[in-house]
Amino acid sequence: MQTVYEILTDQDEKQRKSVLETAAEIIRHGGLVVFPTETVYGLGANALDSDAASKIYAAKGRPSDNPLIVHIADPSEAEALTEVSPLFYRLARAFMPGPLTVIMPKKDIIPASVTAGLDTVAIRCPSHPIARRLILTAGVPIAAPSANLSGSPSPTNAIHVREDMMGRVDMIIDGGACEVGLESTIVKIENDGLLTLLRPGAITKEDLFALGVEVRVADAVLGKLKEGEKVLSPGMKYRHYAPKAPLFLLDGNEKERRNFLADKKERIAYLAYDEETLALRTLSLDLYALGAKEDAKTQASRLFSLLREADKQNYTAIYAPLPDPSGMGMALYNRMIRAAAHQIIRLSL
Ligand code: TXA
Ligand code: MG
Repeated sequence: MQTVYEILTDQDEKQRKSVLETAAEIIRHGGLVVFPTETVYGLGANALDSDAASKIYAAKGRPSDNPLIVHIADPSEAEALTEVSPLFYRLARAFMPGPLTVIMPKKDIIPASVTAGLDTVAIRCPSHPIARRLILTAGVPIAAPSANLSGSPSPTNAIHVREDMMGRVDMIIDGGACEVGLESTIVKIENDGLLTLLRPGAITKEDLFALGVEVRVADAVLGKLKEGEKVLSPGMKYRHYAPKAPLFLLDGNEKERRNFLADKKERIAYLAYDEETLALRTLSLDLYALGAKEDAKTQASRLFSLLREADKQNYTAIYAPLPDPSGMGMALYNRMIRAAAHQIIRLSL
């Protein structure tokens, strides 16, 4: 397939309009367009067109039992697609447009290929101006998973997108780096009116609590899922974001991490906090800067990029500190334990 590559980082309005009109045309005619969002890049198709949505699975190499998120330009559009409850509007007023996805019972207009046969659908209203304008110009909701090949980290800039999607989609819109860098927070509105947090993101559990809603964190989020247990969100059962070199998470303090890394003889990489890089520079390992220890936001924006970079170097192993799972740290913890296939090394006695 021939892919048209368009840069929309510094274009004038005329250029922007013309690119978005072409992209919208592609979507309306059942094609695939990769576009930037504030979280990660999305691989979009018309969410009301079953065949178009099916093409997404082929382009990503995604298992057909893993449903897609439907993107809308305004929360009010959810009513045509789902059985909307009052809690949705509370969430929408507080967090939309923004990095929050809400799962609700679907209406018939959403084809089964979008929801992988489930009777619920995931709805998200992105805040990125290019994403919003694309949805508005297309005039249809856009189904879009992250625009990576299945199993590799979600793309947070256009270089990642090119690596994975050139030749697999009709158009790629390069809108620069994604601000958040981790995928949206996913919550499900349950029958009893409570929320289940299925995937943590930039909208934190604490943000949801602050709204006065009750939130239950699904066991799989922090890796507590036992063998054979049912997963609520199909995507949570796959080993995602997996680097080729094994990733290990170090559970210990700075001194314990340094002592552990000092003993390593192989060619290894370490994703380091800014505060520890100076002390580690004498060791024979490659350092990848995650950001300051308390700055989970910066770490989140860099994580997938660093994993992709480190993965090109054929290390024997990649190590990283185990994050503290509070606030935005929960999203980091969730992505990192999955990239590490739950391999945590306990350094403290
Ligand atoms: O930030 C994001 O959400 C990005 C951008 C492009 O919007 N999209 C994204 O999509 O991360 P994807 O497909 O990579 O992840 C969607 C997750 C999957 O884990 C999937 O299983 C879950 O959402 N999901 C979708 N529909 C669901 C449903 N009806 N019930 C439970 N989980 C659902
Ligand atoms: Mg994904």
